Amino acid sequence: MVGVTIRTATAEDKAQVAALWRACGLVIPTNDPDADFQLAAGKSNSEILVAQDVAQRLVGAIMVGHDGHRGWVYYVAVDPGCRKQGVGRTLMQTAETWLRQRGIPKLNLMVRETNAQAAKFYQQLGYEITPRITLQKVLKAPS
Ligand SMILES: CC(C)(COP(=O)(O)OP(=O)(O)OC[C@H]1O[C@@H](n2cnc3c(N)ncnc32)[C@H](O)[C@@H]1OP(=O)(O)O)[C@@H](O)C(=O)NCCC(=O)NCCS
Repeated sequence: MVGVTIRTATAEDKAQVAALWRACGLVIPTNDPDADFQLAAGKSNSEILVAQDVAQRLVGAIMVGHDGHRGWVYYVAVDPGCRKQGVGRTLMQTAETWLRQRGIPKLNLMVRETNAQAAKFYQQLGYEITPRITLQKVLKAPS
């Protein structure tokens, strides 16, 4: 078990958080981690939380938010050198508390079909696979 402190990310954390997301294989060509950080950090309905170890090293991060009905988490990441020591669980528990404090009763999340390890992690934390089809449409910003 590694002792970590969870805090809200600041603009100064952006580069390090984006680097962590990349190191964790979470950034695909259609993602822009800097823009995603900017859009979610410090908003009334969304936040980026980071985990720091005793040496103040950033070892984990999570994006949490809600749409007024359900809560969502994205970009759940733990430094490869610090895994299986409870950091991911602590990040998820903190995100759950963040949502509960805002009156959101349910947390949903998506896992890429190729990421069976992550699905096991979430199931270990009490999450269930639900029979839903997820659809999406890319909404381009107005030019
Ligand atoms: C998924 C991830 C966040 C887990 O973080 P972690 O700090 O290693 O997880 P924890 O140590 O808190 O584990 C919590 C529980 O899940 C289990 N678990 C963690 N990783 C697991 C894995 N790969 N396979 C099976 N179980 C796993 C742990 O054994 C632990 O169970 P326990 O309570 O019985 O001990 C981390 O592996 C990661 O960053 N992966 C790459 C990025 C990623 O895929 N993110 C999810 C995107 S949807």
